[in-house]
Amino acid sequence: MTRTVYLNGEYLPETEAKVSIFDRSFLMADGVYEVTSVLEGKLIDFDGHLARLERSLNELDMEKPEAFDDLLEIHRKLVELNDIDEGMIYLQVSRGSAGDRDFVFPDPEVVKPTLVLFTQSKPGLANNPVAQKGLKVISIEDIRWGRRDIKTVQLLYPSMGKMAAKKAGCDDAWLVEDGHVTEGTSNNAYIVKGGTIITRDLSSDILHGITRAAVLRFAREAQMTVEERPFTIEEAQGADEAFVTSASTFVMPVVEIDGAKVGAGEPGPVAKRLREIYLEESIKSGI
Ligand code: PDD
Repeated sequence: MTRTVYLNGEYLPETEAKVSIFDRSFLMADGVYEVTSVLEGKLIDFDGHLARLERSLNELDMEKPEAFDDLLEIHRKLVELNDIDEGMIYLQVSRGSAGDRDFVFPDPEVVKPTLVLFTQSKPGLANNPVAQKGLKVISIEDIRWGRRDIKTVQLLYPSMGKMAAKKAGCDDAWLVEDGHVTEGTSNNAYIVKGGTIITRDLSSDILHGITRAAVLRFAREAQMTVEERPFTIEEAQGADEAFVTSASTFVMPVVEIDGAKVGAGEPGPVAKRLREIYLEESIKSGI
């Protein structure tokens, strides 16, 4: 099926949506993005994604696209036009095209941002069988730039990390800096030890996950103990459980790290419970 996508004010068949070769997202990775999941046709954690988008734009001195205030309506229209029950909506804003290549930012009065949204239908996303098995991860050095709190489209290193994992027969990679895990290539990382949920504290070292915020809130509401601090791979390998969170995977157990089984080597009760709570509550509050 040909998708209907959104580009700068227009709803178009995907094959007709065209962006300039001079667009700064293409030449300079000068763009930011968001991924919002859709469950039962509803947008999950939409307000959080919108707030983070605004923050990413601010941090990079990028103009808000003209349609910023219409983004909820645009998301909903794409869900409807593409008949999405379960899946994702990808949104990207770039600094636009000045019609040539130049490191210097163009005048925002003259060059307007490029706004693109498209849907990805993923039937079975909530009941993903991978959640029953859990993920195997490898660790790699975190050599990304220092502003990982901004959700930019510079995704080459995370892609390389996923490829290294695949080559090693694993599912994903955890990134390690100065001996401590920052996050996964496209998710936040957690361990559970003695009932305490441990995840790295927020700073410019990691993306401030929208799913992370919701999951930690639900965990605290369920009287679970949460410690926000860095941890090492060795500590993770000796933990009772491990898991990751993101908009596309929700809460996903991790059962092996660099070849060592975590706990019993199968999804643990805390991760399973948090996945259930997250899915239930976020569908309830979906819009
Ligand atoms: N990735 N950390 C990184 C590096 C990420 O790329 C993501 C999201 C997260 C989790 O953030 P959230 O809970 O807001 O999705 C953490 C998205 C899903 C992606 O790139 O597809």
